[in-house]
Amino acid sequence: MNVLVTGGAGYIGSHMVRVLLRAGHAVTVLDDLSAGHADSVPAGTRLVQADVRARDVVLPLLRDAKIDAIFHFASRIQVGESVRDPRLYYRDNLAAGVALLESALDAGVKRFILSSTAAVYGDPIRVPIDEDHPTVPVNPYGDTKLMLERVLASYARAYGLGYVALRYFNASGADVAAGIGERHDPETHLIPLVLEAALGKRELTVFGEDYATPDGTCVRDYIHVTDLAKAHLAALAYLDAGGASGAFNLGTGQGHSVREVLLCAEKITGRRVPYKVSARREGDPPILVASADRAKRLLGWVPERPLLDDIVADAWAWHTRA
Ligand code: UFG
Repeated sequence: MNVLVTGGAGYIGSHMVRVLLRAGHAVTVLDDLSAGHADSVPAGTRLVQADVRARDVVLPLLRDAKIDAIFHFASRIQVGESVRDPRLYYRDNLAAGVALLESALDAGVKRFILSSTAAVYGDPIRVPIDEDHPTVPVNPYGDTKLMLERVLASYARAYGLGYVALRYFNASGADVAAGIGERHDPETHLIPLVLEAALGKRELTVFGEDYATPDGTCVRDYIHVTDLAKAHLAALAYLDAGGASGAFNLGTGQGHSVREVLLCAEKITGRRVPYKVSARREGDPPILVASADRAKRLLGWVPERPLLDDIVADAWAWHTRA
């Protein structure tokens, strides 16, 4: 199939590109390189450097390349930033997503797979979180992703667009063989920060150890980025087989505390991870763990590298690459 990956030079998008190429799809990447890296796109894959809103670029691109499906990753991803400066998120996540859909509808694209987030659920009232859990985001990042999901639901009903929204828990790990991994600037995610602390590049701050969790630190569901990408591939096959549009959680169903991640990193790296403890970071729920049963049942997707040890080992191999 001919597919477009927006944000394909970014962390999750670049892993998606590898998975699509290995499955034999013809891939075009659309990325404005505001956060992505051109060298994360494999040689030989077409990279169009433009904003997803650039209709004069995107519409002809969709038509000329006869794009069958769009994987939409291009977006802002920082919860804290979305609270401080929400217009960036309404503009670059919501309005840009709607603009991309304008071009997609006009070009007759029939399949759309959205990179969404567990942040659509807000503070969980029960864990594990399934897709029927109330969606009450507590920050503009989650709001804009949920709003885009709702736009998709309306367009699916009205225009017959097939869509899947994939709600990620904590994406992590790396594709070591492909030489790609997590490279955000600034980096805010726990696993890369822990590994940089192990390398002596920074001191880690643990945000709170007074949560109502077994060891007092927050619990999250870490999911390997290549497993995430494979779920998108399964979502495309599902839509192609006539599957109903909708949202799916992606996680392993296993929670790990911040302290467990630290200990795991010390074991894998053989180094100490120096850290200090600070107050809680605003907006962090104590526990976020997915029920991904729906994805297992309907997409036939099961994570192949669900163990934290393997996820951290892959991230470490990438961080210490030659
Ligand atoms: N943490 C620290 N110190 C740090 C960074 C993180 O203690 O320097 C803790 C956080 O408080 C949290 C855990 O490590 O308890 C994981 O934090 P991340 O920032 O790595 O990830 P989040 O769970 O905050 O966020 C992830 C995605 C978001 C998404 C959210 C869903 O990165 O995009 O899950 O709620 F919105």
